[in-house]
Amino acid sequence: MTDVLPITTAQWLQQAAAALLPLAAQDVAISDVMLEARRLLGDVLDITPTVLMLRYQDPLTLAEQTLLASALQRRQQGEPLAYITGRWWFWDLELEVAPCTLIPRPDTELLVEQALALQLPVNAKVLDLGTGTGAIALALAKAKPAWQLCAVDFNPDAVALALRNQQRLQLPNCQICQSDWFSAMGGQRFDLILSNPPYIDELDPHLQQGDVKFEPLSALVAPAAGLADLQHICTHATDYLTAGGWLWLEHGYQQAEAVQQLLLRSGFTEVTSRRDYAGQWRISGGRYQTCG
Ligand SMILES: C[S@@+](CC[C@H](N)C(=O)[O-])C[C@H]1O[C@@H](n2cnc3c(N)ncnc32)[C@H](O)[C@@H]1O
Repeated sequence: MTDVLPITTAQWLQQAAAALLPLAAQDVAISDVMLEARRLLGDVLDITPTVLMLRYQDPLTLAEQTLLASALQRRQQGEPLAYITGRWWFWDLELEVAPCTLIPRPDTELLVEQALALQLPVNAKVLDLGTGTGAIALALAKAKPAWQLCAVDFNPDAVALALRNQQRLQLPNCQICQSDWFSAMGGQRFDLILSNPPYIDELDPHLQQGDVKFEPLSALVAPAAGLADLQHICTHATDYLTAGGWLWLEHGYQQAEAVQQLLLRSGFTEVTSRRDYAGQWRISGGRYQTCG
């Protein structure tokens, strides 16, 4: 049996940072290799930055070294940290994540913010289309316990993942089911419909870069220059909204004008867009008024 030499946390971090340098050279998502090494160690061993600092000169156990070696190898091949550790933060929730769907992004928190800023009934019914991990619906279910959330995805693995998150987080006011956009919604009507659907054009070079190249195309790509799913949702949403109900959609930073046109053509009023914290037009929405 080969002896594994004892190594301290600090030594492992130095070696990992050096090993990540080639990835950082080709991956814009890694700006600081030491920071990335610390995040990897902290997430894999499930320790906070403070505990990590306290353990700096402590030797790692053999089991820890084995776990870290495998995680580092996967990260060196570009695999996103979230898929390696199987968890990721969104809003105030720690979610299980998996390669069957998108890793929730901070940009999408803007949809949650927008939903919370609307004047909705106390017991509002809210639909999240293409829920993935359940990120948007579960964040709202936690923030608004009196709201009734419904979250759907057409991918059965994503539905199972969202259900596991819902159960672990104990948010009974969120129902999750499989549906091809509105297909399983029957005659239900909602005060608010939200979606972060696939909106990337299949030829977009970003699909070959960074974390994105590990994520499923079914969560990212839509025909018609990325607009097909956005168009489908705009066209059909009015059949599932209450009078005065809202539709808010995440889209690509160059799609705000096109999405506004889709909303207007589908009969929405009060159509507007909001920028994300990087200054990009990121979400657009409108209101469905049945008369006047
Ligand atoms: C961009 S991801 C968003 C995931 C999650 N809402 C988030 O923001 O992190 C798009 C999601 O839409 C789902 N999806 C794609 N086509 C769909 C369809 N026809 N009906 C329902 N969901 C669909 C994908 O499986 C994926 O989970």
